Amino acid sequence: MATAIEKSLIEILSKANWVGILTGAGVSAESGISTFRDPDGLWSKFNPMELASIDGFMSNPERVWDWYQYRRNVIHSTKPNAGHYAIAEMQKMFPYFNLITQNVDRLHQTAGSDDVLELHGNIIENHCFQCKKPYKQEIDLSSKEIPRCDCGGMIRPSVVWFGENLPHKVLAQSELVAQKCDVFFSIGTSAEVYPAANLPIIAKKNGAKVIEINPNVTAISYIMDYVIRDTSAETLPYIVEELKKRPTN
Ligand code: APR
Repeated sequence: MATAIEKSLIEILSKANWVGILTGAGVSAESGISTFRDPDGLWSKFNPMELASIDGFMSNPERVWDWYQYRRNVIHSTKPNAGHYAIAEMQKMFPYFNLITQNVDRLHQTAGSDDVLELHGNIIENHCFQCKKPYKQEIDLSSKEIPRCDCGGMIRPSVVWFGENLPHKVLAQSELVAQKCDVFFSIGTSAEVYPAANLPIIAKKNGAKVIEINPNVTAISYIMDYVIRDTSAETLPYIVEELKKRPTN
């Protein structure tokens, strides 16, 4: 299926000066991590407002802590897939390249991507719910006990919860990438959550070629210049191989 990629897309990419990529949970699906909104996704089994929101944590901190311990254990036993590795390779193939992710699993970094713009934070780091101080101690993944900060506050994962602002510097950098790049990929995201979903729209408005890699239609498929209805682990290595056959500028 990946061979259905149009030659013109490879042509455009081989001449691109600045490539931006936005990834979502679909990129980690082939590593065995559930997405959120697929039929068997996390939000079909759990209530996001109870588990991924400030109110949820305040009303039942143990339930939220447990859920993140469960997710950390899942992530701890997974590895990056071919899609993550291909994106890490792409980082070296263009004069300018930025990876923006909604994912909190850090599989991009494990695969070798650096300077990753984490729009929704990450599940590996933690900080105090009260005073916000980073919590540097190792988390025992089997513990049901919520660690405490020196100030007495409860420790929480450093992910962005529903209703919380995204890290403003990361968002500003991501919007700049969308405004300036020549080619913008939207990979493995349903594009249901803003402001992340706005980035491909900003890129399109600023003249970039926008490309969607997703087995399914999304809320922003209609704006795409290219749509590849396949998985990221299938498609991205193929694109990298095709690019290697052509000199990039
Ligand atoms: N390759 C590429 N795309 C895939 C694959 C795959 N192997 N498997 C599934 N997908 C696609 C699905 O078709 C879907 O469009 O990935 C997308 C996953 O969408 P969501 O589950 O909504 O995940 P995401 O878009 O990352 O969610 C955004 O919502 O709940 C919040 O904070 C959470 O960061 C998350 C945000």
